Amino acid sequence: MLEPQLRHFSWLWIPAMMLLGFPCNGCVGCSSTVFNSVTSTTFKTLGCDSPQCKQVPNPVCGGSTCTWNTTYGGSTILSNLTRDTIALSTDIVPGYTFGCIQKTTGSSVPPQGLLGLGRGPLSFLSQTQDLYKSTFSYCLPSFRTLNFSGTLRLGPAGQPLRIKTTPLLKNPRRSSLYYVNLIGIRVGRKIVDIPASALAFNPTTGAGTIFDSGTVFTRLVAPVYTAVRDEFRRRVGNAIVSSLGGFDTCYTGPIVAPTMTFMFSGMNVTLPPDNLLIRSTAGSTSCLAMAAAPDNVNSVLNVIANMQQQNHRILF
Ligand SMILES: *[C@@H]1O[C@H](CO)[C@@H](O)[C@H](O)[C@H]1NC(C)=O
Ligand SMILES: *[C@@H]1O[C@H](CO)[C@@H](O)[C@H](O)[C@H]1NC(C)=O
Ligand SMILES: *[C@@H]1O[C@H](CO)[C@@H](O)[C@H](O)[C@H]1NC(C)=O
Ligand SMILES: *[C@@H]1O[C@H](CO)[C@@H](O)[C@H](O)[C@H]1NC(C)=O
Repeated sequence: MLEPQLRHFSWLWIPAMMLLGFPCNGCVGCSSTVFNSVTSTTFKTLGCDSPQCKQVPNPVCGGSTCTWNTTYGGSTILSNLTRDTIALSTDIVPGYTFGCIQKTTGSSVPPQGLLGLGRGPLSFLSQTQDLYKSTFSYCLPSFRTLNFSGTLRLGPAGQPLRIKTTPLLKNPRRSSLYYVNLIGIRVGRKIVDIPASALAFNPTTGAGTIFDSGTVFTRLVAPVYTAVRDEFRRRVGNAIVSSLGGFDTCYTGPIVAPTMTFMFSGMNVTLPPDNLLIRSTAGSTSCLAMAAAPDNVNSVLNVIANMQQQNHRILF
């Protein structure tokens, strides 16, 4: 999770996070719908000496329960590490380890909880490897869709057979993330002049490009963003550019936006303006829905985020 999510999403898939977390009974700050562990005969709380607790970042072991705090967007989530049998449609997963949410602050946590689809040892996919073979796909509908609902398909069955592909890479520095090899970006028909080093995959620094559905807007490392943005502005023409919130390329009134093509090894993906522009609720302002990477641990990471994935089926 690299930044706060779009409110419209009731489920968020966060490769960076390991665990599925449900709001549980006793939760402070959760909505009224919680999983009542008391009514489940198969529910277990995991202790600090459990092997699973060793996989949890910074567990707090004051009592016997393995407990930990994580941050998500602007929120803090306090969870107990727990196990139970879960059912997804007709699939049964016994002994599933998850976070039983006991406290949340802020408003970033969706009321239904969070599903971690990353590659970490306790992620949903790692725990259901026998069942789903680490294979899944989703389609995030456009945020402009009225009755917002996407689809998640788990396992190899029923996945699209004809789909453009690029190899997934694993970066030992950030092993739970889904890296790909981004080799260039086209704005309209023009290939933007980007130094190859700014896109390079680097197992030592963690640099490279990831697909992340838990980030809302695409972030590009600073020199890449500047080059892409400048070409985008040039293509839009003489309209006056302003900034709004975290966006530095906004326009008032209608504009004709170019498409943008992300060129990966073996796969070009062309995004129409619907994947590129975020419009203000009032409707008159539209902004290029991308930004430069933040000046922190993620400054070397290009993130293809959920706004740019909308209306596409993404298969891992
Ligand atoms: C979470 O752990 C705390 C501390 O052990 C315990 O008091 C609480 O009942 C647990 N909550 C659930 C839902 O198991
Ligand atoms: C977890 O975070 C909450 C909210 O910031 C804080 O009040 C609490 O002390 C933290 N608990 C632990 C066990 O770190
Ligand atoms: C959206 O869903 C609501 C409730 O399910 C329904 O009443 C409404 O007709 C739906 N609207 C559209 C545009 O499909
Ligand atoms: C992607 O586009 C570039 C530039 O237009 C082209 O040279 C390349 O062959 C395309 N790659 C694929 C896999 O279609």
